[in-house]
Amino acid sequence: MTDNRKIDPTTGTETTGHSWDGIEELNTPLPRWWLWTFYATVVWGVIYTILYPAWPMVSGATTGLLGYSTRGEVAAEIARVELSNADLTESLVTVDLGVLAENEPLHRFAVQAGRSVFAAHCSQCHGAGAGGVKASGYPNLLDDDWLWGGTMQEIAHTVRHGIRNEEDPEARFSQMPPFDWMEPEELDATVHYVRSLSDLPHDAAAAGQGAALYVDNCSSCHGSEGLGDREIGAPNLADAIWLRGDSYADILAQLKAPRMGVMPPWQARLGEAEVRAVSAYVHGLGGGEAAVGEAAATSAD
Ligand code: HEC
Ligand code: HEC
Repeated sequence: MTDNRKIDPTTGTETTGHSWDGIEELNTPLPRWWLWTFYATVVWGVIYTILYPAWPMVSGATTGLLGYSTRGEVAAEIARVELSNADLTESLVTVDLGVLAENEPLHRFAVQAGRSVFAAHCSQCHGAGAGGVKASGYPNLLDDDWLWGGTMQEIAHTVRHGIRNEEDPEARFSQMPPFDWMEPEELDATVHYVRSLSDLPHDAAAAGQGAALYVDNCSSCHGSEGLGDREIGAPNLADAIWLRGDSYADILAQLKAPRMGVMPPWQARLGEAEVRAVSAYVHGLGGGEAAVGEAAATSAD
């Protein structure tokens, strides 16, 4: 075949010597630029495998002269984020909660961190969406009706020490006494009076009799108009939001055998940064109140 090579007269290019039915193939050389690019990629490939991890070995791969690894890069990235978070966490622990909301980046950091704290530690009682569980007396944290207080400081206090638990001496505490000593008519009258406070259907005559019983037995905690008392976590009885239900049977049950909510303290379990973060999160759910004046600020801890 080599014998058949010749110069094609039309193009001046050598042929390969192949000939099919008189049709011959030109041996056109590869373009220069293409060849050089090809050689460059080969050289690049060799250099790359020397500098970077490349050749698979029995255990692992060659590490390359630069010592680069994607794993190392991730570790460095995590360290960087943690370092910047360390600053934020530090600031969160020391900031005055009354003005946290004004510090936009710190507040955002707190709320985001608080969201995962809530999902991990609070949602089993208060519900994933913080809507509460009425049947168990776990309050809704989305509304602006607060048993113990809705400023960020008050919420943090509740979270830190908990409610009616035996572990923390500073836990919020109060107790509604049972009224099982009342005569059935007295209980009936009191329930009707309580329902009249929030305009629920009631027997007006019975409610009239219940008014005096209420003043004697209930107003010291729930207030003369039923507005409640946050000092002792006594619910507002004159609004549409109920911790334990607004039906006749619910209220009667609460009078005969008061159920008391218990919440564990979180200070030791979470630490101050997470307590503050989750408080900022709860505060931001919709019902958070602004700290007003000295009173709110001093009741912080
Ligand atoms: C074991 C169940 C339980 C867990 C877990 C729990 N709570 Fe509570 N929480 C309660 C109960 C019960 C009450 C209502 C107590 C009462 O009746 O006064 C309450 C009340 C509150 C209140 C007061 C609401 C108000 O109206 O003043 C806040 C705020 C609160 N919880 C936040 C949290 C946060 C934040 C977490 C997670 C760190 C958490 N809770 C975990 C049971 C729980
Ligand atoms: C010593 C204070 C105290 C007294 C007195 C008291 N309560 Fe209460 N009451 C409370 C507290 C605290 C709660 C909240 C219980 C809880 O958080 O689980 C409560 C809860 C209730 C509830 C449930 C409210 C809801 O939102 O579901 C009703 C109803 C109620 N009380 C009615 C009465 C009536 C009627 C009387 C008088 C006959 C009375 N209470 C006397 C402290 C008191």
